[in-house]
Amino acid sequence: MTDPTVFEQTPWKTLDPAVLEQAKKVPTMLAPEEQQFYAWATSEWMQGDGAVVDLGCFAGGSTARLAAGHQRAGHPGLIHAYDRFHASELTKNQILYAQGIAPFDGEEILDLTIDLLTPWTERIALYPGNIEDQVWEDGAIEVLAMDASKTIPTMDQMAHMFFPSLIPRRSLVIQQDYLFWRLPWIPIQMELLADYFTPVACVQKHTVVFLNTEKLDADALETLRVSALAPEDRITTLIRARERLEEAGFPVSKRMTRQIAVLQKHPNASRATHFPSPQ
Ligand SMILES: C[S@@+](CC[C@H](N)C(=O)[O-])C[C@H]1O[C@@H](n2cnc3c(N)ncnc32)[C@H](O)[C@@H]1O
Repeated sequence: MTDPTVFEQTPWKTLDPAVLEQAKKVPTMLAPEEQQFYAWATSEWMQGDGAVVDLGCFAGGSTARLAAGHQRAGHPGLIHAYDRFHASELTKNQILYAQGIAPFDGEEILDLTIDLLTPWTERIALYPGNIEDQVWEDGAIEVLAMDASKTIPTMDQMAHMFFPSLIPRRSLVIQQDYLFWRLPWIPIQMELLADYFTPVACVQKHTVVFLNTEKLDADALETLRVSALAPEDRITTLIRARERLEEAGFPVSKRMTRQIAVLQKHPNASRATHFPSPQ
């Protein structure tokens, strides 16, 4: 499937539930519709000539959904999943134990993730550590899921590392936290790159999906640096991003207005924890 008008019909909402049956056993922070989108993107949208990349896979929840779709379609190639593979006691309680994992000592979750992803092991490569310290040398990327953009500098580095490998008019960037009030730099960066990406889907709860439209060149790699943007320019860029999404017909007004208000209150914030909760 390569016709971008397909997104208008929201076909992921009618994904065969059997595709996700096994993946449901892997704990995730994704909302139900987001899980459907991940599996649809790899089973129906991608053609199989490029890799899938999952930035911030936590215990493998997003990876399992991507892998389930990838397996259904019989694609070759790998899902490359990156994380530090650490979970605090709070996160263990709220996500892992709440979704059926037996309590365990310590913060290390790499071994748990490997176990949970066993059904798809031949199609997954895991990369423990800081994503910004890694190097991407595995060619074209067809589906890039981003769920680790928790600070401006790390987001800038991740985009710089992975965006040049996207395939114009084919590759999707799934911006998992685009509408989350604590991460306003995600819409700012995508707005800076409006010549290279077009929004194609808004997926409950926080996701906006983009189709890459132009190969990212040297200019784009300079342009994408939110860290180089003055605080007042970040706010005007975020307001422009809201206008673009509204014009495209996506129901983002309430959540992006909140992002703008929070950024106006804390214009120098550069990491999620700079915004006191709740706002
Ligand atoms: C919201 S969680 C991801 C949830 C996951 N996609 C799922 O389906 O449950 C964000 C993850 O990003 C990881 N992360 C954030 N910044 C990172 C970085 N700079 N390098 C590696 N991992 C990072 C965290 O360890 C955390 O597991």
